[in-house]
Amino acid sequence: MESNMENSRNNRITAEEIALQYKYMEQIKELNQEYILKYGRQKLAFLQSFGCQMNENDSEKLSGMLEIMGYTQTGKLDDCDLVIFNTCCVRENAELKVYGHLGSLKALKNRKPDMIIAVCGCMMQQKDVVEHIKGKYRQVDLIFGTHNLHKFPELLNRALETDALVADVESSEGSIAEGVPIRRGQGVKAWLTIMYGCNNFCSYCIVPYVRGRERSRQIADIVNEARLLGHQGFREITLLGQNVNSYGLDLKDGSSFADLLRSLEDVEGIDRIRFMTSHPKDLSEDLILAMRDCKKVCEHLHLPVQAGSNTILQEMNRKYTREYYFGLADKIRSQIPDISLTTDIIVGYPGESDEDFKQTLDLIEKVRFDYVYTFLYSKRTGTPAAKKEDQVSEQVKKERFNALLALQNRIGKELNEPLAGKIVEVLAEGPSKNSITTLAGRTRTNKIVNFKGSPELAGRLVKVRITNAGTWSLEGSLE
Ligand code: 5AD
Ligand code: SF4
Repeated sequence: MESNMENSRNNRITAEEIALQYKYMEQIKELNQEYILKYGRQKLAFLQSFGCQMNENDSEKLSGMLEIMGYTQTGKLDDCDLVIFNTCCVRENAELKVYGHLGSLKALKNRKPDMIIAVCGCMMQQKDVVEHIKGKYRQVDLIFGTHNLHKFPELLNRALETDALVADVESSEGSIAEGVPIRRGQGVKAWLTIMYGCNNFCSYCIVPYVRGRERSRQIADIVNEARLLGHQGFREITLLGQNVNSYGLDLKDGSSFADLLRSLEDVEGIDRIRFMTSHPKDLSEDLILAMRDCKKVCEHLHLPVQAGSNTILQEMNRKYTREYYFGLADKIRSQIPDISLTTDIIVGYPGESDEDFKQTLDLIEKVRFDYVYTFLYSKRTGTPAAKKEDQVSEQVKKERFNALLALQNRIGKELNEPLAGKIVEVLAEGPSKNSITTLAGRTRTNKIVNFKGSPELAGRLVKVRITNAGTWSLEGSLE
């Protein structure tokens, strides 16, 4: 039988394949240099990312490749030579936005026929979407999916050589590409993807169909990337995966997510470690202990519950009950008393009755989350929930959304108020949104703190006394 180590290496894109992509990058770079000599300006790329942090991290890889190929990024669509939309399909509105953008690019493409329009990401892993784009948005030049993101240079090269559409989407279970260049934005925080895909098939969710099966990167590769980030000046890393709690199960060498956290503890330069997302069913006692013991792992856990009614949880295929969730929250809080808990809730799942929704409000009241991300259920073709007949009306969904928001605003404020007067550790990130003389940062519990201070403090851990505790953010002054 194949060893597990080999098994996990087998779904790794070969070094030769990655080297080939570097060749394409060099080739395009040469073309772009010739372009500068001829026209006296650099080629410009416009890259827009939709959706979750994993998509943002993928976009950072696209940025890394663009940089090597000699493209300069611009925020202005009108000027650019290459447009890339890295799409999301978790909810319908994200898809509609992409179609809107593609539609409005038609006129620009008519004016600038040499411009390349590329669409990639989760939406492109759906056959019907690709067909729709091929039929309706002829201005698109290049389509690729999430599984072959590393092939972007090769595909772009092809698109530059032909007027025909280049579409390359793999429907495989997915693989792992190490060694793809990555260019992160400047700052103190970095995303670090530790695994790809999802095996859970929650009834409402499209992710397992577009991101493939769970596959974990080797601990050594992750630790190396974290070291590099520390060296580059990042102070905080957020480990990303659709369900980080099942990290390592596919490696079958015994590595678990708790082991990974312990391995990252002594990475130089990194002061804080966060992670998302956790599935309650897979959150082990060992992980709770690792969170408690690892000094750099922050006291914050994003633990999506999705619904508070056992009927709906079962319909959603979440594989736990509300009672299990209460028990889990208690267990976590008994080991890490000051932890902040945040969650995701979907309102209006098909068949959700008033009574079911009351159970969700009741769960929120009982668990007392620091923050709740609430989503209106969005029907995703291809998922089991989309076939259900008892869809909830938009009106009812909105009413439930508002009721939930009002409840959570009250709880959030109640939880923040006792922080007034306390001194907290804040990682200063940079000027706040509203004023350049104010700095913004976060507590270890992930709460936003605004305080007066010099911009040079960005990247430093500082002590701040909280002077005012609001519902969504805190204000304070440097100690
Ligand atoms: N409709 C609404 N929300 C959804 N999510 C996932 N799929 C859907 C859907 N079809 C939410 C879940 C998940 C978050 C990232 O997005 O709450 O935790
Ligand atoms: Fe979607 Fe469920 Fe997987 Fe999360 S765990 S990505 S909600 S299928």
